[in-house]
Amino acid sequence: MHGVFSRIILGLGLILALGLNLQTAALGQEPAILSSGDIHHPQIGRFGMVASQQILASQIGAEVLAAGGNAVDAAVATSFALAVVLPRAGNLGGGGFMLVYLAEEKRTIAIDYREMAPAAASRDMYLDADGNVSRERILASLKSSGVPGTVAGLHYAHSKYGKLPWARLLAPAIELARDGFIVSRFMSDGLKRSARRLRRSPASVKLFFKPDGAAYEPGDKISFADLATTLEQIQKAGRRAFYRGRIARKIVATMRRGDGLITLEDLRNYRVVERPAVKGTYRGFEIVSMPPPSSGGIHVIQMLNILENFPLSQMAPGSADAIHVMAETMKLAFADRSKHLGDPDFYDVPVDWLLSKAYAKRLAATIDLARARPSSEIRPGTAAAPESPDTTQISVMDRFGNVVANTFTLNAAYGSAIAVDGAGFLLNNEMDDFVAKPGVPNFWGLVGDKANAIAPGKRPLSSMTPTIVFRDGAPYLATGSPGGSRIITTVLQQIVNLIDFKMGLADAVEYPRFHHQWLPDELRIEGGFSPDTLRELQARGHVIARKSVMGSLQTVQRRDGLLLGVSDSRRMTAGAVGLCRPRLARSC
Ligand code: GLY
Repeated sequence: MHGVFSRIILGLGLILALGLNLQTAALGQEPAILSSGDIHHPQIGRFGMVASQQILASQIGAEVLAAGGNAVDAAVATSFALAVVLPRAGNLGGGGFMLVYLAEEKRTIAIDYREMAPAAASRDMYLDADGNVSRERILASLKSSGVPGTVAGLHYAHSKYGKLPWARLLAPAIELARDGFIVSRFMSDGLKRSARRLRRSPASVKLFFKPDGAAYEPGDKISFADLATTLEQIQKAGRRAFYRGRIARKIVATMRRGDGLITLEDLRNYRVVERPAVKGTYRGFEIVSMPPPSSGGIHVIQMLNILENFPLSQMAPGSADAIHVMAETMKLAFADRSKHLGDPDFYDVPVDWLLSKAYAKRLAATIDLARARPSSEIRPGTAAAPESPDTTQISVMDRFGNVVANTFTLNAAYGSAIAVDGAGFLLNNEMDDFVAKPGVPNFWGLVGDKANAIAPGKRPLSSMTPTIVFRDGAPYLATGSPGGSRIITTVLQQIVNLIDFKMGLADAVEYPRFHHQWLPDELRIEGGFSPDTLRELQARGHVIARKSVMGSLQTVQRRDGLLLGVSDSRRMTAGAVGLCRPRLARSC
């Protein structure tokens, strides 16, 4: 789908789609859900929809909806299934953020189950004798892991907001782990790409290579007996099994095999935090997203606030004008991220100031439409008050009107690549999302300062951006993506594609993307933009860097009484599954 040819077809189709949309806009009508100009088509459901990066997991979520579960039940079951069928990102040993809209209460809550630094962590723990950051220690050692939050987060979400029995939600994941499933090309390629890292952990070798040491090929069957046992223990004892019981002891035993820091006390002390979601508006839509310790919500809203000052709808998608103004906006937001964002339990993040329309207007006034400002000329603002990348997204809407956008991760693909001995799951390398040394870029190329310095019990700053968009007070969109720093700009571009460029949902997801994060000073682009657009951007001073695909949006949209589901084709095996009838887990 990502060859030059498909991009040309996409471009031609979008021109046609835009033509139709301009016509309908001129007539004062909304564009149809599927116009003949839409290239890509969404899944359509009537009574529920689940989109995730592995269609087997989406199917499990849809079956939970068909069994009478709500969106939280479906998200929890899908998450546990992803821990089996998408081990590069789905996880038990990582953490994440879940945004839940409760229809009855008309309220959105944000569940923070991000990893926490162990009690023995310290600010300079990744610096070697010369004061340089050890990439090995921060990304690929037992010291790379924060205390995992996933099991606590899913358990919390279910016990407060779920409907079906906990055991029912774990059962399909246990069955998949025990009986196995067919390895896709995507999974086989991913395992081969990370083979060198995975082979350094005997427990990972046992999990991800055949008994004779050979790699799994597409079409092979893979199963995870130890993971099935771990999931059964969680099914029986809930959060306790992971943070106090046998699984906790296995994690600590793995830590003691080397110089890992996580102790039984760290696990016992792990806590989930329910936080108020951050909110903003964009051209009449309400945007609700994840607050710190994720930077995602704040910066999506901040960028939309800046873009509101420009007539984006008059600029065609993919035009040099649109890309220029959006790239300049991205630089400003990422400069602020480097200074002002961190765990709010440790650092006073100036949320209101960053989200204010007045500050956005001041930033918008600094954008020169004819010239790219070098990043060296841009500094973080001064507050009045003091993203393969691998992460994965689940978006769900149910028949009751509830919505979940859940993003969780191990950080890099397969996290630290170190598995817990005998427990069947990988550990995260989320400590790299802290600032190991001011000004030194992390795995995502992001820089930061003391707001995101390492401290015991602190949560590393994230870019995860689970987001719900409302229109006239009703949920309109649930979305999110993997991609580290690119998550924020991926979610942003989808919202602009829908609201400003009036694309159909699937085209808004598939449209080629770009990304700027202030430092390094380069405009990263996917394939699919026309050479004359790129020449025009270079003439304005942008340094263009051609990159592989960015992000993998998993989106559900409520529209005209239907639920539309789209799973980004950038990552194979992704898929949305809807409910055609109340008890039929099959899209219409
Ligand atoms: N580990 C990627 C993120 O949280 O942004």
